[in-house]
Amino acid sequence: ANYDFGLVGLGVMGRNFILNVADNGFTAFGNDLDAKKVKALIKEGGNTEKVNASTDAKTFVDSLKLPRKIMLLVPAGKIVDTVIENLLPLLKEGDIIIDGGNSFFTDTDRREAYLKKKGIHFFGAGISGGAKGARLGPSIMPGGSREAYQHVKPIFEAVAAKYKGEPCVAYLGPKSAGNYVKMVHNGIEYGLMQLTLEIYDFLKKAAKLSNAELHQTFKKWNEGRLQSFLVEITSKILAQKDDLTDNHLVDMILDKAKQKGTGKWTSQNAMDLGIPVPTIDIAVSMREISALKAERTKADELYDRPMVKPLDKKDAIEKAEKALYFAFIMAYAQGMHQLADASEEYGYELDLGEIAKIWRAGCIIRAALLADITEAYRSEPRLQNLLLSKSFAEKIRSTVDAARELVSYGATNGIPLPGLSNSLTYFDAYTSERLPLNLIQAQRDYFGSHTYERVDREGIFHTNWHDNV
Ligand code: 6PG
Repeated sequence: ANYDFGLVGLGVMGRNFILNVADNGFTAFGNDLDAKKVKALIKEGGNTEKVNASTDAKTFVDSLKLPRKIMLLVPAGKIVDTVIENLLPLLKEGDIIIDGGNSFFTDTDRREAYLKKKGIHFFGAGISGGAKGARLGPSIMPGGSREAYQHVKPIFEAVAAKYKGEPCVAYLGPKSAGNYVKMVHNGIEYGLMQLTLEIYDFLKKAAKLSNAELHQTFKKWNEGRLQSFLVEITSKILAQKDDLTDNHLVDMILDKAKQKGTGKWTSQNAMDLGIPVPTIDIAVSMREISALKAERTKADELYDRPMVKPLDKKDAIEKAEKALYFAFIMAYAQGMHQLADASEEYGYELDLGEIAKIWRAGCIIRAALLADITEAYRSEPRLQNLLLSKSFAEKIRSTVDAARELVSYGATNGIPLPGLSNSLTYFDAYTSERLPLNLIQAQRDYFGSHTYERVDREGIFHTNWHDNV
């Protein structure tokens, strides 16, 4: 028993993660039912004293140092429970299981409570960065037992992505804090992706940019304040030629987006908490609309679309950059707001500055903006919303007008910009001291005696509304 780290599930993510662990001076042992995957890992590891693997659970468990540190990288859902049940009889008190998948946070709470009774520590650790991240340095979001974290900390800090030398991993909080934070990370990811495609669509249809020009535009943006993983890969995607035809690959890809559920969970849970995240909500809805391809095709024949009024390229690009920057801020602001509220509701004791900090590198939503968000929370740890931060107010003030122009142009010219529009609505509503929802209160009291509060005195009021005027 002399291996430092164990990993169950040798798919692409698992294999890459274990090789990353080995690259950083730890010995690691893998386990998978598939003999081919076990063989492939041993071959790629090159030295079985450093990286070894077996299909047999007992051989695997017996090879690990105490307390055992076993990460599961298997698909979220029932299979996580099955793997845990298979391991349990072989484990010793004090051993640690880390679920590295996108498990739903209440599943993590259930598993943590169950394993605690058996003396086993359980971590839900969100891991972001895709296959490349797992291999070269992901952002890791662990939650669970604080005392057990000291055993996994050296390994996680070694394998995580580094931002100016600082590892993109931190103990985030008890129970499912890690999975929850990863879920909201993915919600923000959905928002940023939707916003990016809207700007791509706007520039293509309104300013008639070619793929080559779009590639150049995103590439240039990635050198400025919009610098981010998603903008970077968008520029690369736009340059890629198709192997099967003479076209650009992006134009040959079917416009039906798939989803595995984490964006939807973010939206659903935000509704449960009562925290508005409209940029994320619409991103989920747009994936759903995109999936209705056959219906969309029928409806397209039935309705005319307004003629698109062409725009000057240079001016459109300049405004699009501002609008995208504005809306990116709204997406992060909503996600962070949700985290702040969830922290209270579920007792996670989240440190939002720390979360922004570990998102600065490695993960899918990494962006130059996250360094600014980290600073904003460092200087004001109790910040309720990024929109209330002075440094962000300046960024927003100088870009919101461009967002207004794009949204109104989109509406007039029939180019859907719903993420941008919801971001703008969020901004306009969140920054309004008085909203017209007094009328809702009046209606509720009118038809259901639901009562209302007043602007000028304390208390709960009900009126016998005049029916006959
Ligand atoms: C990450 C990603 C990843 C997620 C994919 C796909 O942080 O590395 O968030 O965990 O699974 O992005 O998500 P969808 O299939 O829902 O788009």
